[in-house]
Amino acid sequence: MLDHDTFLRIASGELNPGRQLPGGETRGALDTSDMRQNLPILYALAAGIARCRVLEIGTSDGTSALAFLKAASEVGGHVTSVDIADVPIARALIDQYGLLSYWSFYRGPSGTLLRELQARGTSKYDLVLIDGDHSYEGAKADLQQVEPILAPGGVVLTHDSLMVTSDHDWSLPEGQMRCKLGCGLLTLQLLRDPAWAGMYLPFNCNLGIWRKRADLEGAIERGVDEAKRVGLLPSHFHVEDAIGRRAP
Ligand SMILES: C[S@@+](CC[C@H](N)C(=O)[O-])C[C@H]1O[C@@H](n2cnc3c(N)ncnc32)[C@H](O)[C@@H]1O
Repeated sequence: MLDHDTFLRIASGELNPGRQLPGGETRGALDTSDMRQNLPILYALAAGIARCRVLEIGTSDGTSALAFLKAASEVGGHVTSVDIADVPIARALIDQYGLLSYWSFYRGPSGTLLRELQARGTSKYDLVLIDGDHSYEGAKADLQQVEPILAPGGVVLTHDSLMVTSDHDWSLPEGQMRCKLGCGLLTLQLLRDPAWAGMYLPFNCNLGIWRKRADLEGAIERGVDEAKRVGLLPSHFHVEDAIGRRAP
């Protein structure tokens, strides 16, 4: 099991689980990931949903998977990951913390797995991370294929979602520059699309957090109705009046 203290030490960089790579090279499992600082956010998002079903596109060395799996182990959830490459370091990391039984891994292009999940028609996901192919076309295709299998009220996360950041390293090879640009364009598209509501966090390599706007509409009003029903709000309370009174 992965206790909170160990998890926070990993997130802060104080602890970096070491692994012997198949080729003999040794490095910490999380050395290469710019996702590490997002670990508490990823964990909190998944842990807030009972029996959370997580779909992770892009696993690499298992950084984001670790946060999702910690949450899944606590809320009776499950994490499905897909990566075009094999992920021996992620597997070892997940095994190290006894989380393998909460994890399904599919090796191959995300498009193939997403088509299979759609065809099955039974799998819905509460939380989806799009962090695989970082080209605009690749990330956009992932989003399009994720939409039909997103559970009502589900959350989509995008990573590296802003193309230029304060810590942007302009000396990166051209391939990596395109990588950032692709996800940035997807972010712009999502921000302009009236069907989606959300934002990107302009730090920690820009995590985007998105929901279908239709899933948000009426949610506060339903909460207010429930609060009135259980006596937490007076029956004469009206959202519109309250907003009107507070408007400048
Ligand atoms: C940025 S890394 C993922 C990082 C990971 N989420 C983390 O927290 O460290 C991107 C991963 O996506 C994988 N990938 C790239 N294109 C893909 C595709 N079309 N389908 C599935 N995985 C893909 C790469 O092999 C790589 O491991």
